[in-house]
Amino acid sequence: MEQIEPPVRAVGWSPAGTLRILDQRLLPGRELERDLGTIDEVADAIRTLAVRGAPAIGVAAAIALASALPEVTRHAVEAAAALLRATRPTAVNLGWAIDRMLAVARALPPAPSLDAALRAEAERIRAEDEAMCRRIGEHGQEWMRDGVRVLTHCNAGALATAGIGTALAPLYVAHARGRRVEVLADETRPLLQGARLTAWELQRAGIPVTVLTDGMAASLMAAGRVDLVLVGADRIAANGDVANKIGSYGLAVLARHHGIPFVVAAPWSTVDLATATGAAIEIEQRGADEVALVGDRRVVAAGVAIHNPAFDVTPHALVSAIVTDRGVLRAPFPFVANVSLVPPPI
Ligand code: MRU
Repeated sequence: MEQIEPPVRAVGWSPAGTLRILDQRLLPGRELERDLGTIDEVADAIRTLAVRGAPAIGVAAAIALASALPEVTRHAVEAAAALLRATRPTAVNLGWAIDRMLAVARALPPAPSLDAALRAEAERIRAEDEAMCRRIGEHGQEWMRDGVRVLTHCNAGALATAGIGTALAPLYVAHARGRRVEVLADETRPLLQGARLTAWELQRAGIPVTVLTDGMAASLMAAGRVDLVLVGADRIAANGDVANKIGSYGLAVLARHHGIPFVVAAPWSTVDLATATGAAIEIEQRGADEVALVGDRRVVAAGVAIHNPAFDVTPHALVSAIVTDRGVLRAPFPFVANVSLVPPPI
């Protein structure tokens, strides 16, 4: 597999060996990298979506646990892990990365060997994520015919991972191989990850992208202007139900009605075999102001009730395929419940 550079690095190490993130709250207007030296700063960055996307917050938490502890002891790792875990409940990658760091802390004597072991594990998590993205890009090529028009939701690109993204990875690979691909990016209310982030990174990579508001997808599908819906995932239950950014479920219903494949791309670390179905997935509820305010302007009268779940669950019956780093899982599921059906890592 040829190497493909992401258009941007969202999360990684600073030269000083601390966590470096690109502050996504400021995009597309301003590109500001921040080096975060305390667990509180990292927790705040995850909560406020300065760093976001399921794989990226897992990598950020791992690097934080390796570089931002007040003292490198097992007790300090446990306390910081609990704080970071509580920041966002839906993305399984966060807890998955934290559990890997905890396993290292529980197995080893105190500093300095613990310090080195934590750093090595965090780097493994980062590097594995980058490699998983690349393999997802490869496995997704069967949908990337020349001229394909892909509708995506939220941001499951380089900004959401340590590599070339998940849902956007097949597009980056196809583009690097000279195939023409075109992206329709849902703006993704209320935090506009599609408009602010997906369009920005695709433009930077030279991939044609058009932004639409979330209500426009149906008419584009009806007009025959969408070949594929391709989204990421925050958690995939054992039966194949998929939690992803609010609005993904609606797109899956629309795609089924119009006979368009609805494909999910995610690393194997997003599959949660301990969660039987989507009904058991905790959905993060966020503050009312995210909906009530557009910038500084109030667009909902004060006192009106507001509903703001960050994610929804797409039932597996509406999912055509799940592209993982290990291979493509196809409907009909409950494939995931039976791990032996899952292709081994390549
Ligand atoms: O709230 P966000 O911006 O973190 O939500 C992100 C998504 O829903 C992504 O689609 C998902 O995390 C997959 S990112 C590769």
